[in-house]
Amino acid sequence: ETFDTPELAVAKLAAETAELIRSNDAAGKPTVLGLATGATPIRYYQELIRLHKEEGLSFQNVITFNLDEYAGLPREHKESYWFFMHHNLFDHIDIKPENINLPSGTVSDAEIPAHCEEYEQAIIDAGGIDQQILGIGRTGHIGFNEPGSPKDSLTRAITLDEITREDAAPAFDGIDNVPTAAITMGCGTILAAKRIVLMAWGEGKASIVQKAVQGPVNDIVSASYLQEHDNAVFYIDQPASTEL
Ligand code: GLP
Repeated sequence: ETFDTPELAVAKLAAETAELIRSNDAAGKPTVLGLATGATPIRYYQELIRLHKEEGLSFQNVITFNLDEYAGLPREHKESYWFFMHHNLFDHIDIKPENINLPSGTVSDAEIPAHCEEYEQAIIDAGGIDQQILGIGRTGHIGFNEPGSPKDSLTRAITLDEITREDAAPAFDGIDNVPTAAITMGCGTILAAKRIVLMAWGEGKASIVQKAVQGPVNDIVSASYLQEHDNAVFYIDQPASTEL
Protein backbone atom coordinates (compact mmCIF):
# COMPACT_ATOMS: atom_id res chain seq x y z
CA GLU A 1 0.00 0.00 0.00
CA THR A 2 1.39 3.41 -0.99
CA PHE A 3 0.89 6.50 1.18
CA ASP A 4 1.57 10.15 0.37
CA THR A 5 3.86 10.44 3.42
CA PRO A 6 5.51 8.14 5.98
CA GLU A 7 3.46 9.89 8.67
CA LEU A 8 0.22 8.66 7.09
CA ALA A 9 1.60 5.13 6.83
CA VAL A 10 2.75 4.92 10.44
CA ALA A 11 -0.50 6.47 11.67
CA LYS A 12 -2.37 3.58 10.07
CA LEU A 13 0.08 0.94 11.30
CA ALA A 14 0.11 2.30 14.86
CA ALA A 15 -3.71 2.42 14.91
CA GLU A 16 -3.79 -1.20 13.71
CA THR A 17 -1.27 -2.14 16.39
CA ALA A 18 -3.32 -0.42 19.09
CA GLU A 19 -6.43 -2.26 17.92
CA LEU A 20 -4.56 -5.59 18.05
CA ILE A 21 -3.31 -4.89 21.58
CA ARG A 22 -6.73 -3.74 22.82
CA SER A 23 -8.58 -6.71 21.35
CA ASN A 24 -6.06 -9.16 22.84
CA ASP A 25 -6.30 -7.33 26.19
CA ALA A 26 -10.09 -7.70 26.08
CA ALA A 27 -9.68 -11.42 25.40
CA GLY A 28 -7.14 -11.75 28.21
CA LYS A 29 -4.34 -12.66 25.79
CA PRO A 30 -0.88 -11.12 25.47
CA THR A 31 0.14 -9.43 22.22
CA VAL A 32 3.43 -10.54 20.70
CA LEU A 33 5.11 -7.87 18.55
CA GLY A 34 8.14 -8.45 16.35
CA LEU A 35 10.15 -5.23 16.22
CA ALA A 36 12.85 -3.79 13.98
CA THR A 37 15.59 -1.17 14.16
CA GLY A 38 17.04 1.31 11.67
CA ALA A 39 15.80 4.77 10.74
CA THR A 40 12.62 3.45 9.11
CA PRO A 41 10.54 2.39 12.16
CA ILE A 42 11.41 5.41 14.35
CA ARG A 43 8.30 7.37 13.29
CA TYR A 44 6.16 4.31 14.04
CA TYR A 45 7.62 4.09 17.54
CA GLN A 46 6.98 7.81 18.05
CA GLU A 47 3.35 7.25 17.14
CA LEU A 48 3.05 4.29 19.55
CA ILE A 49 4.54 6.50 22.31
CA ARG A 50 1.98 9.19 21.49
CA LEU A 51 -0.87 6.67 21.68
CA HIS A 52 0.47 5.52 25.05
CA LYS A 53 0.80 9.02 26.49
CA GLU A 54 -2.30 10.64 24.97
CA GLU A 55 -4.73 7.80 24.51
CA GLY A 56 -3.79 5.47 27.33
CA LEU A 57 -2.59 2.61 25.16
CA SER A 58 -1.02 0.12 27.57
CA PHE A 59 1.87 -2.21 26.80
CA GLN A 60 1.50 -4.13 30.08
CA ASN A 61 0.44 -7.25 28.17
CA VAL A 62 2.79 -6.85 25.23
CA ILE A 63 5.75 -9.14 24.63
CA THR A 64 8.37 -8.04 22.11
CA PHE A 65 11.00 -9.85 20.07
CA ASN A 66 13.53 -7.87 18.08
CA LEU A 67 14.88 -9.13 14.80
CA ASP A 68 18.57 -8.84 15.39
CA GLU A 69 21.60 -7.51 17.25
CA TYR A 70 25.19 -6.78 16.28
CA ALA A 71 27.69 -9.38 17.43
CA GLY A 72 30.22 -8.01 19.87
CA LEU A 73 28.29 -4.94 21.02
CA PRO A 74 27.38 -4.68 24.69
CA ARG A 75 23.93 -3.30 25.54
CA GLU A 76 25.39 0.05 26.61
CA HIS A 77 26.97 0.68 23.19
CA LYS A 78 25.07 3.54 21.58
CA GLU A 79 24.76 1.62 18.28
CA SER A 80 23.54 -1.59 19.89
CA TYR A 81 19.98 -2.46 19.01
CA TRP A 82 19.25 -2.94 22.71
CA PHE A 83 20.20 0.70 23.26
CA PHE A 84 18.26 1.81 20.18
CA MET A 85 15.06 0.10 21.29
CA HIS A 86 15.20 1.45 24.83
CA HIS A 87 16.02 4.96 23.64
CA ASN A 88 13.41 5.04 20.87
CA LEU A 89 10.56 3.07 22.44
CA PHE A 90 10.83 1.00 25.62
CA ASP A 91 11.91 3.85 27.95
CA HIS A 92 8.78 5.79 26.98
CA ILE A 93 6.04 3.15 27.41
CA ASP A 94 4.84 0.87 30.22
CA ILE A 95 6.23 -2.41 28.86
CA LYS A 96 7.50 -4.84 31.49
CA PRO A 97 11.29 -5.32 31.18
CA GLU A 98 10.88 -9.09 31.42
CA ASN A 99 8.70 -9.01 28.29
CA ILE A 100 11.45 -7.44 26.16
CA ASN A 101 13.50 -9.87 24.06
CA LEU A 102 16.50 -9.16 21.85
CA PRO A 103 19.28 -11.47 20.77
CA SER A 104 22.39 -10.85 22.86
CA GLY A 105 25.43 -9.29 21.21
CA THR A 106 27.78 -10.55 23.85
CA VAL A 107 27.34 -14.33 24.09
CA SER A 108 30.56 -16.18 23.33
CA ASP A 109 30.89 -17.92 19.96
CA ALA A 110 30.52 -21.29 21.65
CA GLU A 111 27.23 -20.23 23.25
CA ILE A 112 25.64 -18.74 20.11
CA PRO A 113 23.86 -21.90 18.87
CA ALA A 114 22.21 -22.51 22.26
CA HIS A 115 21.34 -18.83 22.57
CA CYS A 116 19.67 -18.87 19.15
CA GLU A 117 17.71 -22.02 19.99
CA GLU A 118 16.51 -20.41 23.21
CA TYR A 119 15.39 -17.34 21.24
CA GLU A 120 13.35 -19.51 18.85
CA GLN A 121 11.84 -21.40 21.79
CA ALA A 122 10.93 -18.16 23.60
CA ILE A 123 8.97 -17.00 20.53
CA ILE A 124 7.13 -20.33 20.40
CA ASP A 125 6.44 -20.25 24.15
CA ALA A 126 4.98 -16.73 23.78
CA GLY A 127 2.52 -18.14 21.23
CA GLY A 128 4.27 -16.91 18.08
CA ILE A 129 4.55 -13.39 16.71
CA ASP A 130 1.21 -11.67 16.05
CA GLN A 131 2.65 -8.81 14.04
CA GLN A 132 6.21 -8.47 12.74
CA ILE A 133 7.39 -5.12 11.42
CA LEU A 134 10.32 -4.88 9.04
CA GLY A 135 12.55 -2.38 7.27
CA ILE A 136 14.58 -3.35 4.24
CA GLY A 137 18.33 -3.03 3.72
CA ARG A 138 19.99 -2.10 0.46
CA THR A 139 20.89 -5.77 -0.11
CA GLY A 140 17.20 -6.69 0.22
CA HIS A 141 17.75 -8.12 3.66
CA ILE A 142 15.06 -8.39 6.31
CA GLY A 143 16.48 -8.52 9.81
CA PHE A 144 20.07 -9.26 8.86
CA ASN A 145 19.21 -12.08 6.43
CA GLU A 146 21.80 -11.21 3.83
CA PRO A 147 21.76 -12.65 0.29
CA GLY A 148 22.05 -16.44 0.46
CA SER A 149 19.74 -16.81 3.47
CA PRO A 150 17.43 -19.81 2.98
CA LYS A 151 13.67 -19.37 3.28
CA ASP A 152 13.52 -21.76 6.23
CA SER A 153 16.51 -20.30 8.12
CA LEU A 154 16.12 -19.77 11.85
CA THR A 155 17.82 -17.47 14.38
CA ARG A 156 21.56 -17.68 13.84
CA ALA A 157 24.84 -15.80 13.52
CA ILE A 158 25.46 -14.21 10.13
CA THR A 159 28.36 -12.40 8.46
CA LEU A 160 27.31 -8.92 7.38
CA ASP A 161 27.46 -7.97 3.72
CA GLU A 162 29.94 -5.22 2.83
CA ILE A 163 27.10 -3.03 1.50
CA THR A 164 25.30 -3.34 4.83
CA ARG A 165 28.46 -2.40 6.71
CA GLU A 166 29.01 0.60 4.42
CA ASP A 167 25.49 1.81 5.15
CA ALA A 168 26.15 1.52 8.89
CA ALA A 169 29.59 3.20 8.71
CA PRO A 170 28.49 6.81 9.39
CA ALA A 171 26.79 5.81 12.64
CA PHE A 172 29.92 3.98 13.74
CA ASP A 173 32.34 6.75 12.65
CA GLY A 174 33.88 4.60 9.95
CA ILE A 175 33.50 1.13 8.48
CA ASP A 176 36.37 -0.27 10.56
CA ASN A 177 34.21 0.15 13.66
CA VAL A 178 31.17 -1.63 12.18
CA PRO A 179 30.74 -5.16 13.50
CA THR A 180 31.35 -7.88 10.91
CA ALA A 181 28.64 -10.20 12.19
CA ALA A 182 25.22 -10.20 13.83
CA ILE A 183 22.67 -12.54 15.33
CA THR A 184 19.40 -12.40 13.40
CA MET A 185 16.05 -14.10 13.35
CA GLY A 186 15.98 -16.25 10.23
CA CYS A 187 13.68 -15.87 7.25
CA GLY A 188 11.69 -18.83 8.55
CA THR A 189 11.36 -17.17 11.97
CA ILE A 190 10.05 -14.00 10.33
CA LEU A 191 7.71 -15.82 7.94
CA ALA A 192 6.12 -17.66 10.86
CA ALA A 193 4.62 -14.36 12.06
CA LYS A 194 0.84 -14.15 11.63
CA ARG A 195 1.06 -10.70 10.03
CA ILE A 196 4.08 -8.92 8.53
CA VAL A 197 4.37 -5.23 7.64
CA LEU A 198 7.46 -4.01 5.78
CA MET A 199 7.97 -0.24 5.80
CA ALA A 200 10.13 1.70 3.34
CA TRP A 201 10.51 5.44 2.82
CA GLY A 202 12.26 7.50 0.19
CA GLU A 203 13.52 7.09 -3.35
CA GLY A 204 16.65 5.31 -2.11
CA LYS A 205 14.47 2.28 -1.34
CA ALA A 206 12.54 2.31 -4.66
CA SER A 207 14.80 -0.14 -6.50
CA ILE A 208 15.00 -2.74 -3.73
CA VAL A 209 11.25 -2.43 -3.01
CA GLN A 210 10.59 -3.20 -6.68
CA LYS A 211 12.79 -6.31 -6.53
CA ALA A 212 11.19 -7.47 -3.29
CA VAL A 213 7.61 -7.02 -4.55
CA GLN A 214 7.88 -7.88 -8.24
CA GLY A 215 11.16 -9.72 -8.63
CA PRO A 216 11.70 -13.48 -8.51
CA VAL A 217 11.35 -15.14 -5.13
CA ASN A 218 14.86 -16.25 -4.24
CA ASP A 219 17.65 -15.94 -1.71
CA ILE A 220 19.29 -13.02 -3.54
CA VAL A 221 16.65 -10.69 -2.04
CA SER A 222 15.41 -12.21 1.19
CA ALA A 223 12.48 -9.76 1.33
CA SER A 224 11.12 -11.48 -1.83
CA TYR A 225 10.04 -14.41 0.38
CA LEU A 226 7.29 -12.12 1.70
CA GLN A 227 5.49 -12.64 -1.64
CA GLU A 228 4.72 -16.17 -0.43
CA HIS A 229 3.29 -15.11 2.95
CA ASP A 230 -0.50 -14.89 3.06
CA ASN A 231 -0.64 -11.84 5.33
CA ALA A 232 2.37 -9.67 4.44
CA VAL A 233 1.98 -6.06 3.30
CA PHE A 234 4.34 -3.28 2.28
CA TYR A 235 3.59 0.19 3.69
CA ILE A 236 5.65 2.54 1.56
CA ASP A 237 5.66 6.22 0.75
CA GLN A 238 5.25 7.66 -2.73
CA PRO A 239 9.00 8.06 -3.49
CA ALA A 240 9.68 4.41 -2.51
CA SER A 241 6.94 3.28 -4.93
CA THR A 242 8.29 4.89 -8.10
CA GLU A 243 9.83 1.75 -9.64
CA LEU A 244 6.76 -0.43 -9.17
C1 GLP B 1 19.73 -2.71 9.24
C2 GLP B 1 18.71 -3.48 10.06
C3 GLP B 1 17.47 -3.77 9.26
C4 GLP B 1 16.98 -2.49 8.60
C5 GLP B 1 18.04 -1.95 7.67
C6 GLP B 1 17.61 -0.68 6.96
O1 GLP B 1 20.40 -3.55 8.39
N1 GLP B 1 19.22 -4.73 10.59
O2 GLP B 1 16.48 -4.32 10.11
O3 GLP B 1 15.80 -2.73 7.89
O4 GLP B 1 19.18 -1.66 8.45
O5 GLP B 1 17.82 0.45 7.76
P1 GLP B 1 17.13 1.83 7.59
O6 GLP B 1 15.74 1.70 8.11
O7 GLP B 1 17.95 2.76 8.45
O8 GLP B 1 17.16 2.16 6.15
